[in-house]
Amino acid sequence: MDFSIKSGELNKLVKGCVVLPFNNDLKLSPTASKINRQLKNKIKTILKDTAFSGEAGDAIFLQENFTDKCTGVILVGLGDKSSSVRGNFFKMASAIFDTLKKFGLSEATIVVDDFSGSNFGLDWIIKTTSRVLTENSYTYSHTKKTTSKEFSVKRLTVISSQMDKGEIKDALARGSAIGEGCKLAKDLGNLPPNICTPSFLASKSKSLGRQKNVSVSVLGRKEMEKLGMGSLLSVSNGSYEPPQLVIIKYSGGRKSQRPVVLVGKGITFDTGGISLKPSSGMDEMKYDMSGAGSVIGTMQAVAKMELPMNVIALIPASENMPGGGATKPSDIVTSMSGKTIEILNTDAEGRLVLCDALTYASRFNPSAVIDVATLTGACVVALGHVATGLFSNNEVLADDIEQAGHESWDRVWRLPTWPEYHEQLESNFADMANIGGRGAGSVTAACFLEKFATFPWAHLDIAGTAWNSGKSKGSTGRPVPLLCEYLMKKSGW
Ligand code: BES
Ligand code: MN
Ligand code: ZN
Repeated sequence: MDFSIKSGELNKLVKGCVVLPFNNDLKLSPTASKINRQLKNKIKTILKDTAFSGEAGDAIFLQENFTDKCTGVILVGLGDKSSSVRGNFFKMASAIFDTLKKFGLSEATIVVDDFSGSNFGLDWIIKTTSRVLTENSYTYSHTKKTTSKEFSVKRLTVISSQMDKGEIKDALARGSAIGEGCKLAKDLGNLPPNICTPSFLASKSKSLGRQKNVSVSVLGRKEMEKLGMGSLLSVSNGSYEPPQLVIIKYSGGRKSQRPVVLVGKGITFDTGGISLKPSSGMDEMKYDMSGAGSVIGTMQAVAKMELPMNVIALIPASENMPGGGATKPSDIVTSMSGKTIEILNTDAEGRLVLCDALTYASRFNPSAVIDVATLTGACVVALGHVATGLFSNNEVLADDIEQAGHESWDRVWRLPTWPEYHEQLESNFADMANIGGRGAGSVTAACFLEKFATFPWAHLDIAGTAWNSGKSKGSTGRPVPLLCEYLMKKSGW
């Protein structure tokens, strides 16, 4: 999507169709009044004669040129004026995209001044519009002979008399970088597991190395053996696909500045291993690399935005398969930290790959480590598909992530990791077991990880938020917006 930013007389500036936002009081903005006059009261007639209510997500298209460069007007609803629910704005932005798509309109103009009474801040409004218009163009096409062509908005023109052009440009660019990051995460998630293997994740990551300040390296089985990553390696024992540990480094900050480390669970297919999962719905376990996908998407966005900070991504990638060499329930492995783990259930494999990546993270002296994982079915039971589960050993980090979740409307809900829950992981034969028995499954999974965190740490359980099931089955790209927002704030933007 290209942008242009203009200030001055509306009639000379409009390109494509003009977007006119309405609250549910249906009051005309200054722009809407002006256009209504030029169109001989047509807007008011529409408001009177149609079902358009101004509720969030409501939209109507009026094909009418009031200048020769204008193709029409889209009226969109933003709901209650006093509402500070950011979700309303997302509904509105999606409705703009859907309407543009439906009528094949590739250029749109918004007048930022129309939003000046809103609760959200003009900068946020521009960033969010750009993000949604970018992200919503995502179409999966890799393995279909007949695909519907991807519709994308070619140009967004922003008219403003109040904001600085540089500010608008930054907000637009950030929104589109985040949107592109979501698209990459969705694509990686949606690809089938016979294509999206650990080696595929490694090679996709390597192609990020073309971006400024990014370098990528990959550790194979041999290197991991040398490092003593017995836990990570045990997950790949039943698989023909070799495990990979991908390291993506983005160096946009001073050399001495401690990095934020992101760790993404990269199980490219989770059969459960010898603790085999039931077959119904097992196909969805191709999404078990969504943590990795979102971390890769976030790194692409961070590099595009050229954030002035250092970020390192670690992606422990493996399949979890049954097989002659597969790990058996009751096997005991030694993790890179030296701690031993009794594997009582081979389906609790995510924590086994993550714990060695967390130990590896400590060599970077990180200021914070955030791991992202489709870790537990229990998290879907607890929070459904709305909130991501948040766990942390650090109040400041947890607060920052909650705040970023709210700003990006990619929300999280915090759960505890109290000592009483840690007790559930005790084992008679090893330093810990890999499962915590009945009750609080997401919490005990997080507690397991916490034992390896020697730094400010947070864990995001995205089991319920990384993909949609049913008819709209597909990856959501979450939590790319959350991670980007957190990193932007942290870098001082
Ligand atoms: N990848 C799954 C978690 C999952 C399940 C995500 C369903 C999304 C939907 C994970 O590896 C897993 O199998 N977890 C087990 C843990 C249990 C054995 C303690 C689970 O949730 O059942
Ligand atoms: Mn599993
Ligand atoms: Zn899994």
